Amino acid sequence: MSIESVILSKVKESPFDTRELSEKLKIDYNKLIQAMKSLEYNNVLECKIKVSNEIVLTESGKKCLTAGTPESRMFYAIPENGIKKSELMKQFGREGQPTFGQCMKCGWIRSEKIETKEQEKEKEKQPQQKGKKKKKQRPDLMLFRKVEEINDLVLEDLKIIHDRMSEKLNKKTLDILKRRKLITTIQTKSFVVSKGPEYEKYTTTQKIEYQTCLKKGMLQKNNWKSHTFKKYNFKSLGVPTQGGSLQPILKVRSEMRKAFLEMGFEEMKTNRYVESSFWNFDALFQPQQHPARDAHDTFFMKNPKKAKQIPEELMKKVKTTHEIGGYGSIGWRYKWSEDESRKNLLRTHTTAVSSRTLREISKEPFRPRRFFSIDRVFRNETLDATHLAEFHQVEGFIIDKNLSLGDLIGVISEFFGKLGMEKFKFKAAYNPYTEPSMEIFAFHNGLNKWIEIGNSGIFRPEMLQPLFSGTRFNDYQEDVNLSVIAWGLSVERPTMIQYQIQDIRNLVGHTVDLQMVKKGPICRLGFPRKVIKEKKKEEEIKKEKN
Ligand code: PHE
Repeated sequence: MSIESVILSKVKESPFDTRELSEKLKIDYNKLIQAMKSLEYNNVLECKIKVSNEIVLTESGKKCLTAGTPESRMFYAIPENGIKKSELMKQFGREGQPTFGQCMKCGWIRSEKIETKEQEKEKEKQPQQKGKKKKKQRPDLMLFRKVEEINDLVLEDLKIIHDRMSEKLNKKTLDILKRRKLITTIQTKSFVVSKGPEYEKYTTTQKIEYQTCLKKGMLQKNNWKSHTFKKYNFKSLGVPTQGGSLQPILKVRSEMRKAFLEMGFEEMKTNRYVESSFWNFDALFQPQQHPARDAHDTFFMKNPKKAKQIPEELMKKVKTTHEIGGYGSIGWRYKWSEDESRKNLLRTHTTAVSSRTLREISKEPFRPRRFFSIDRVFRNETLDATHLAEFHQVEGFIIDKNLSLGDLIGVISEFFGKLGMEKFKFKAAYNPYTEPSMEIFAFHNGLNKWIEIGNSGIFRPEMLQPLFSGTRFNDYQEDVNLSVIAWGLSVERPTMIQYQIQDIRNLVGHTVDLQMVKKGPICRLGFPRKVIKEKKKEEEIKKEKN
């Protein structure tokens, strides 16, 4: 008998519930629903969705069915001549104390105090020291079985629930079992199926054979008119396409790139994961003993260990600036090592890209310019919910005459404004290569709190001047005050907020749910979904008030 005939004959007797029928007759649930939906579409059946709450055993509840309830296990764990409570507790671990409580409540166990010899001595020594609070050492208890046999009512109740007869138990019992996390309520959906308007006609008239498409033979024989064609079901969903899909980070990246391009920024070349310490640190006036230059924070390359091509002239300038300063600075005052500077590493920030770009553009005549980059950086971090050893950074800088903190705040507000943030706070911070430096905080409407979004500052002369020396900017520099404002932040943080991901390991790496990547919506950074929802709510409240 086909599933369709089973359904038709069942519904003839009385309306039925799909879950019950599939369980009773052991029919595959999906196949049953498929057949039912097709008959419903042709009005042969009427189906109403039914949501019901079902009480089921939790994993610990199921365990009780095979191994016994914890209290019965504890009862049987007590030998005939008793056991020390501390020993019994060791056997039961974290479950120990609550289970002991259960046993006492059931009246299965009795206890007797035993005092250690030391405790007795203590008592004798200080018999009348009232008033003074001394930390009491709890005396251990000796536990004995109080009854010969136990009647485990909880197990009986659990069996009833296993047999799906929870209606037999009263609310109080169910509440206790729920509190003990032995049972839980789950929601199940099913359909109640009854006869539809076309039922009689469909079951009495001879079955029509529906054609699903026009075939060559029908045209050749010219009998296509005598066939009945199945109607298109425009409501049915198609099979999901199996195309590739963009990772959320890439979606956010492309939105950020759009924001920068709209603001007239040019993109920097970020094609060097492996960078020399020189460009990553020294050219940024980051001293060689800086903790970030330690192997604990940075991944150094084993092969090739050292960078060969570093511009000699520039290197000398950088060395002097670190050692004795210049440009109004006294430098870091230490012996700068070329060896250290040539060490290759995986770049720790994209500011290494900015330092190279600044050097490149200073070879051309000066014009005000704006640059950005978005790419991967690496740090030797301990992995946790918010840190990975590799992540993406967005970096930007503007070079022009007499730029100030006001310009920096203005540009940052405009850029982050495009990403959907409105309120900002700036906090004084420290970077070896910027002065002043500011941490950027933004108020996130969706999360309803201030979050740190980046770091920024005005590049120090000790960093810029050596990069510009001997270039075309050099002469220009004499007349005007060339300055560079810059900022950087991670891409992962805004992505996690946008896609409401709590743990970064669910965004990058082998634990990512591919369905999340496939089904994730496109990114509209200006309009985080939560904000839209909240705005709608606000509007509704306003309407109601009016
Ligand atoms: N490089 C800094 C970081 O990794 C960000 C930054 C860029 C700060 C430019 C100031 C100027 O956090």
